[in-house]
Amino acid sequence: MEAPHTSKEADAQNPEQTIVVSGIQPSGRLHLGNYFGAIRQHIDLHQQHEAYYFIVNYHALTSVQDADLLREHTMDVALDYLALGFDPEEAHLFIQSDVPAVTELAWIFYNLVSVGRLERGVAYKDKIEQGLTPNAGLLNYPVLQAADILIYGGTLVPVGADQKQHIEITRDLAQRFNQTFCSEDDPLFPVPEAHILDDVAVIPGVDGRKMSKSYGNTIGIFDEGKTLKKKVMSIVTDSTPLDEPKDPEACNVFALIKHFADDAKQAEIAEQYRAGGYGYGHAKKELLGLIDDYFAEARARRKELEQRPDYVMDVLRDGGRQAREQAYAFMERVRAATGLVTTY
Ligand code: TRP
Repeated sequence: MEAPHTSKEADAQNPEQTIVVSGIQPSGRLHLGNYFGAIRQHIDLHQQHEAYYFIVNYHALTSVQDADLLREHTMDVALDYLALGFDPEEAHLFIQSDVPAVTELAWIFYNLVSVGRLERGVAYKDKIEQGLTPNAGLLNYPVLQAADILIYGGTLVPVGADQKQHIEITRDLAQRFNQTFCSEDDPLFPVPEAHILDDVAVIPGVDGRKMSKSYGNTIGIFDEGKTLKKKVMSIVTDSTPLDEPKDPEACNVFALIKHFADDAKQAEIAEQYRAGGYGYGHAKKELLGLIDDYFAEARARRKELEQRPDYVMDVLRDGGRQAREQAYAFMERVRAATGLVTTY
């Protein structure tokens, strides 16, 4: 009798297998919006399915052109994911540029999409509307993203709502390639689905707007001590006097508390808001304690990982090697399908 498969192995026998693929921007220290908007779901998904997560340093070059900064941000993301529970035994975590074949696939894809389609890209149009001159990298950004996804045979792409257009382009490219270069009964690329993650807009920053690095209103996942306290205390609230009843649903502090407290705790705090005699200062202290506890383990783990840079490198190297093997095998088929003669 055959030994029973683990759930992932059983999956691997299935041509309909779910392959999760997602790129993570190396944009500096991650914040609570990133955590509840993406990282938490990434961590959940990598335990359920075969998954490829990579730090998109090629994409970052469209805006970050400082080598030290790019290196630092790349390693920061790796540390953050490992500290927050990414398990390298479960899935692949690597650096995008460790699989340079994605740029080769992107080149092939350039020939299957019109310039007009890319000029209608949201990020590209934004730049133009702001009167800035976008570089060609930005114009072609969605094509590289499509290559990122399709080179691993990705079927499910967990991303924020802002990425819908990119996934549409990816789907079109997969179909276009299949139609152009494959026989109908033997398509090379699966057409992936977007898995749109909870809207990060529900995570308010300290000024009440959506938490975003570009607004400078973030609370970092790994903030602690005085820094964390200062940020929590600076959360904007209205000026209802301490004695008066307050509406928890209209309060930025409570909106954050909701993400950290269990139902019973939330109900208890909401009750205190409504009863009056409970000030925003009290709520902020409560929130501070909750954040502190929630990430205590991850913070300790991050500190430990910072002392083991070789281990972090090993994880990324292994992940990169596995991804490269997968990508290179796939590219042989892509080259054969397109008529690119390979002599080695
Ligand atoms: N564009 C994505 C973002 O800004 C990052 C990204 C690059 C990505 N390649 C990807 C996401 C592939 C999903 C799949 O967040």
